[in-house]
Amino acid sequence: MKLFLTDSVGNYDTFLVFIIIILTIYYLRQRSISLMPRGPTPLPIVGNILSYGKQPWKNIIKWAEHYGDVMTLYQGPFRTTVWINDANLAINLFQKQPDIFSERKHIPFMTHEGSTEGSIVWENGPAWKTKRRWMLSALRHFGMGKRSLEKQINAEADIFCQEAAKFKSQPFDPKHFVNCAVANIICSISFGQRYDYLDPEFTELLKNLLAFFRQCNLSNIEMHIPSIMNLPMFRHKRIPSLYLINFLKNQVKQHKETFDPDNIRDIIDRMLSEVQISSDEEKSYTDPEHIWSSILTIFIAGAETTFSTLMWFLLYVASYQDVQAKLHEEIDRVLEGSKPTMADRTRLPYFEATTYEVQRLGNIAGTSLPHANAEEFVLKGHKIPKGTIINLNLKRIHTDPKYWHDPMTFNPARFLDEDGQKVKKLNVFMPFGIGRRACLGESLAKMEMFLFMTNFFQKFKVTIPEGHPQPDFDPVVGLTMSPKQFKVCAIPRG
Ligand code: HEM
Repeated sequence: MKLFLTDSVGNYDTFLVFIIIILTIYYLRQRSISLMPRGPTPLPIVGNILSYGKQPWKNIIKWAEHYGDVMTLYQGPFRTTVWINDANLAINLFQKQPDIFSERKHIPFMTHEGSTEGSIVWENGPAWKTKRRWMLSALRHFGMGKRSLEKQINAEADIFCQEAAKFKSQPFDPKHFVNCAVANIICSISFGQRYDYLDPEFTELLKNLLAFFRQCNLSNIEMHIPSIMNLPMFRHKRIPSLYLINFLKNQVKQHKETFDPDNIRDIIDRMLSEVQISSDEEKSYTDPEHIWSSILTIFIAGAETTFSTLMWFLLYVASYQDVQAKLHEEIDRVLEGSKPTMADRTRLPYFEATTYEVQRLGNIAGTSLPHANAEEFVLKGHKIPKGTIINLNLKRIHTDPKYWHDPMTFNPARFLDEDGQKVKKLNVFMPFGIGRRACLGESLAKMEMFLFMTNFFQKFKVTIPEGHPQPDFDPVVGLTMSPKQFKVCAIPRG
């Protein structure tokens, strides 16, 4: 009996200690929440994850409108995220204080899949700086911003146009062809291969690439708790990332087997030669074990982003025939039937302005990738602890009525000066991000957007097929935002 009493008193004490710990954690959490910029009320443990709903962006924009220039969202218990919703605040932080705001935070889903190790997108410190410099120089070596690549993109654009012509003005879904055309450029640069559009290996690669991008959606539970994919019923969710990783590991293996230091074919070869040169005594950041992840990064970052932008371009221009008529007039007048080159870009201001407007409203990158602050800082009276995740809310920045007149209207002229001859560089327009972590492939993406679309519109008029529903400009959301499936007619121009 005595023993029983002692036991129940012991249990009671343990229970009391447990309650005190829970209440203390709850108190500290509430206190830290009250010190951060305001945002929607988080639930215990899950934070705001459940509030994103099926269309997270609709809610994120609504919250940004409500809470103003800055807000806090809680992605689970450990990922407190400060969102910068205002363009000038973004410039003030990311561009003017790069030493504080250029750190990167991982996305748990990517880390779980092992694709972050050794990758420029996810590294920090000296390793990131060296890799970024190295990769820029490698991309330039293989043609970024150069005539050699211009020829290759023009050749790929011809194939894309031939594929479109096969439909003889009948409705078709341009998705596969645009995807193939763009991916072939990054495949050639990264691992020296271009594929036929019907190649089954290529089709499988692109299918998994798109599935991977769609999966990275804030509404998906594995984005927040990736270990859930270890459970048998969720294991299928790993298929796209495992496919991509295996594909690229295989590419690196094949390159090692056929490597010839006197014939550097592509970026993988350049990395392999770097590993050989730097050997042991020199500190090299090209870890032979992680070459695949650097290539994966470039492939992932370079293929889907440009593809989605071009899909938005086709959809907007097919839907706004007045804009298309002006594009045709400018292309015909300036190029006079000759093949477009990058030197023509400044001579086609209406085309350039249309590309900007497509990027503003299509806005494939709703946010920057996650940044983090290297030291504590004070933001609008709130002390933001070191290492907090910081996101630029690019979707809000590009539709903020403070900076954009009639922001939801598609109007390329907003990027032109009064006589329509010059493109205005607006500092609140930042589709590639800003600061030291801004997009590494911007000039490659710009080459592709310009050459693919000028070649295409030189040859075709694009319409939404008669009897088809009016285009839906709500995006399909994942790591990027791309248009929902649509069909167009590509009518050859006389
Ligand atoms: C229209 C096409 C593209 C858009 C809109 C775009 C946009 C972006 C954005 C918003 C970021 C994040 C910036 C930040 O976190 O502050 C980014 C990062 C990055 N992009 Fe792009 N991108 C495009 C194409 C490309 C291409 C073609 C490549 C590669 C060849 C590429 C490689 C990268 C890399 C490596 C990073 C990470 C940079 C770093 O962390 O240092 N992107 N991009």
